[in-house]
Order: sequence, then structure tokens, then C-alpha cells
Amino acid sequence: GPALPLAGRHVLITAGPTHEPIDPVRYIANRSSGKQGFAIAAAAARAGARVTLVAGPVHLPTPQGVERVDVQTAREMMAAVEAALPADAAIMVAAVADWRTADAAGQKLKKDGSGQPAPLPLVENPDILATLGRHAKRPALLIGFAAETENVADHARAKLAKKGADWIVANDVSGPPGSSVMGGERNSIHIVTVDGIESWDDLPKDVVATRLIEKVAHALSFRPD
Ligand code: C5P
Repeated sequence: GPALPLAGRHVLITAGPTHEPIDPVRYIANRSSGKQGFAIAAAAARAGARVTLVAGPVHLPTPQGVERVDVQTAREMMAAVEAALPADAAIMVAAVADWRTADAAGQKLKKDGSGQPAPLPLVENPDILATLGRHAKRPALLIGFAAETENVADHARAKLAKKGADWIVANDVSGPPGSSVMGGERNSIHIVTVDGIESWDDLPKDVVATRLIEKVAHALSFRPD
């Protein structure tokens, strides 16, 4: 194909975890490192795309040629994603927290001496991928990720319909914390579409990124600018 297969395209990517504040010093988070999403952003930029990378709190340098928007919470990520539309392709790699505290405390929560923990009511966060799936400015190609620990392909297939996505890239994150995909350098994925499933076993995250972007460019090549 052409040297810059994504020239003239806008690719929107989310990456990393979100942090949902409990009080000024505590938050709800997860083990996402942002590595896979950042690698995809770098690969999209190398392929000539204009890239917007909406990043949760991670310790990673901004890939060359990528416009980065830093956010903390799911609601901030949602707003930054909507502000970045329109996009030709959106790849939602972030591990968005499903829940946030109903109200973050203005002051540090204290033990009150009763032996009872402070109540911590949670409410659901917006689902950014599902919101894009039914958005007036839905990107032509909408890709979600799914971290699963069992029945990876079945859950991914169900998620395609539920989120209104074109592809779900499922990875198996089972295994002890820190030992496997989250924070690690390698990934095994299953790309689930309405047409079937394609599996890539045990590849470095940057190779997964390069191949995924080749597949994105191929899919977009059938659509005019
Ligand atoms: O439902 P689940 O969290 O497994 O779905 C994962 C996919 O949905 C990922 O692409 C993730 O970025 C996206 N997601 C999102 N907003 C949420 C939860 C998940 O965009 N609140």
C-alpha cells in the first residue's frame, strides 16, 4: 500500500486508566499502564494520521506527532473525546473506571473512632465507547478493547452489539497482578467483528499496534475522505 496509508485521516485514541477521586488524596483506579494505547497512537502517527490521544494518568512520553489531551476522570475523558470529534476512526483502549464516588469529599476522610468505615456510595460512569456507538458524529470505524479473564471471545462478541462498535479487540488479562498483560510488554489479542475472529498470539505491544493500524488503514481505504 501507500507509504502513509492514513494521510488525511483523523484517528482518536483513548489510553490509560481513569482516576476517580474519593477525597483530595485518594482515588479509585486500575492497573492499566497505557502502553498499548500509546503504542497504537504512535503507529497511527507513523502511518500519517492526525492523532488525538486522550490519556488518563500514566507515566509515558507523548509519541512523536501525536496531539495529547491529559485527563483524570471518566467524565473528563468523555468530554475530551466529544471535543475531538469528528474522527475517521476511534480506538478506545482506555481502562475507564466503571464507577466513581457519588460525591468526592472536599476534605480528607477521617476514621471517626466508631470502627465503621466511611460509606463510599458509587455511581456509574458514562460509557465512552457506547456513547460514540450511537453518536451523531459516530466515527466510520469504531473499535473497542475488552480486558477479559474468561470466555474472552464470547464476551467480546456480546460487547460488539452492546457498545455499537465495529471491532472489539479482546485480550486475556487473567493471571496474577503485574505478571501479565497489564503493565507488561506483550499482548495476545482476538479481534472480533461481525464477520468472525482473528487471533494474534503473544506479540510485543508495538507489533500489535503496527498490525492493528495496518488493519485500520485497510478498512478505511474502502471509504472516501
Ligand atoms: O465494558 P468494558 O469496560 O469491558 O468495555 C471495554 C471497552 O469499553 C474499552 O474499549 C473501553 O475503553 C470502553 N469503555 C469506555 N467507557 C467506559 C467503560 C469502557 O469507553 N465507561
